[in-house]
Amino acid sequence: MSADGWKTTEEAAEETAAQTPGGARREPRAQASKGTDGGAGGAVLRPHAEETFADELAALAAADDRPRPERWRLSPWAVAMYLLGGTLPDGTVVTPKYVGPRRIVEVAVTTLATDRALLLLGVPGTAKTWVSEHLAAAVSGDSTLLVQGTAGTPEEAIRYGWNYARLLADGPGREALVPSPVMRAMADGATARIEELTRIPADVQDTLITILSEKTLPIPELGEEVQAVRGFNLIATANDRDRGVNDLSSALRRRFNTVVLPLPGTPEAEVEIVSRRVGQLGRSLDLPPVPEGLDEIRRVVTVFRELRDGVTEDGRTKVKSPSGTLSTAEAISVVTNGLALAAHFGDGVLRPGDVAAGLLGAVVRDPAADRVVWQEYLETVVRERDGWKDFYRACREVTA
Ligand SMILES: Nc1ncnc2c1ncn2[C@@H]1O[C@H](COP(=O)(O)OP(=O)(O)OP(=O)(O)O)[C@@H](O)[C@H]1O
Ligand SMILES: [Mg+2]
Repeated sequence: MSADGWKTTEEAAEETAAQTPGGARREPRAQASKGTDGGAGGAVLRPHAEETFADELAALAAADDRPRPERWRLSPWAVAMYLLGGTLPDGTVVTPKYVGPRRIVEVAVTTLATDRALLLLGVPGTAKTWVSEHLAAAVSGDSTLLVQGTAGTPEEAIRYGWNYARLLADGPGREALVPSPVMRAMADGATARIEELTRIPADVQDTLITILSEKTLPIPELGEEVQAVRGFNLIATANDRDRGVNDLSSALRRRFNTVVLPLPGTPEAEVEIVSRRVGQLGRSLDLPPVPEGLDEIRRVVTVFRELRDGVTEDGRTKVKSPSGTLSTAEAISVVTNGLALAAHFGDGVLRPGDVAAGLLGAVVRDPAADRVVWQEYLETVVRERDGWKDFYRACREVTA
């Protein structure tokens, strides 16, 4: 149990990571103690939510005088405010992370304070992963206890694995055990996250049943168990385009409260989401600020919405929908790429020519069918629209 012993365990754990795939990685715990200066965050490409928004989380915690469930960093009310944004009594502005119905966030946060786990469901790009990360950051101060679900996720990724070097040297014992993020969350009373739950094979998914109903994880090899302490809960995400939530066994489904995240309800909301995220991403990539580009963002969002909905915004013209999802997330990357083009090869101002190529790539997934849909939309809708001439020309150029 010496300090040395621990170190060796961790090093060896890394060496044998291949034998404990998926979630069994020992990541450094996020600097959960509200370090507001981000520490080594400067060099990191994408800091975790709790690091990026450490200042907001600290201000919320200081202003929050409502009751907090055990081991929660904030009260449910403050967690909802962290997600939806607002202004604190001392004037601190909390930026909105999620743009959408308030009730959805309230239900999601409340679920985490109960004994049921939370399942975030929705079509691609509806911010399931994003909301799950921010919820974990606000509730537990740590969004890193994460298992990425795939068709190959083994039970060890959800329960625990073994450090085989240690196991052979010392025999079975706690030292040789490599806990999964879920096990660590149980022991610490924190929030665990499982991404893409419905991609995980059904028998592996069912490992979660005991965890979620009995709140315990038996370790038969040691004749022990890890009991979840208060504060533990789990957020899973699932993509309903993927394979459908029906793939969850009914026993497991009953342990979850399902919250469906919708596509943005209005064009304004979607423009706001795209502008906000592009601004944040742009800052982290040292790209120029966006204000002049707002027109282009509005056009990209309009095109995405019209093609997705199969009808123009004024409701007058029916259009065909292409095969891709055309999610908000894709609109964000079309605009971000455009901004990078403008920064590196233009004058830094986002113009139609900068977004046209990305737009074509997002819309035309199937080279034959989607191209026809896109050309028809260009000629019947974009061409005729007032003030869209430059945009039409740019799109024509890349489509030809
Ligand atoms: N309603 C929204 N509010 C705030 N951001 C949003 C919203 N919808 C989408 N986004 C943005 O879209 C991006 C993609 O979201 P995310 O990756 O969480 O989607 P997802 O639902 O997990 O998709 P997938 O099913 O492909 O995993 C994020 O950067 C997020 O900020
Ligand atoms: Mg996701």
